[in-house]
Amino acid sequence: MKEIVFATNNKHKLEEVRKIADGRLQILSLSDINCHEDIEETGTTLEANALIKAKYVKDNYGYDCFADDTGLEVEALAGLPGVYSSRYAGEACRPADNMNKLLNVLKHTDNRKARFRTVIALISNSKEHYFEGIINGEITLDQKGNAGFGYDPIFKPDGYNQTFAELGDDVKNSISHRALATQKLMKFLLKD
Ligand code: IMP
Repeated sequence: MKEIVFATNNKHKLEEVRKIADGRLQILSLSDINCHEDIEETGTTLEANALIKAKYVKDNYGYDCFADDTGLEVEALAGLPGVYSSRYAGEACRPADNMNKLLNVLKHTDNRKARFRTVIALISNSKEHYFEGIINGEITLDQKGNAGFGYDPIFKPDGYNQTFAELGDDVKNSISHRALATQKLMKFLLKD
């Protein structure tokens, strides 16, 4: 069976991807290949950061590899926080700090349109490929719900009346930016 590394140790992401692969690929994590280094994400785009991680594994461990990077892109902020989503309120900040900062910045803004965008970079047979998943929605006026992580309590996907954090993991994982990108990746990897 084809082996491929997913450059992450995030259990939720691994589980989600392995579920979609349904035993047709052997998906290894960074700890499965004994890669314990912190791979620095120094890019200024989601594409660049995803590629940095995939390339690091290919160059140092020899495995074909894919990696993801996600950002929350707010229309009124010209796409910010985007690639800086995890550290919007500063290095080593908590998700609550990021959400509070965003709600504050948008306090007097009527345009609350936003989207989550995931980019997956794949290095397979020495070639680079990219897969994108987008979900459109809006930033709510305050935090609602306890499920999920990151900005989930303030993101309401289009077509729903609740935030990701209220909708819960099952609904979220069936429509999310990451699920869409992952499905495209799996279709590509399993095509032959
Ligand atoms: P990563 O590239 O998956 O590590 O995501 C970067 C940052 O984007 C995270 O630290 C979160 O702040 C945010 N983020 C990514 N995916 C989600 C999501 O599904 N819900 C809420 N926030 C997310």
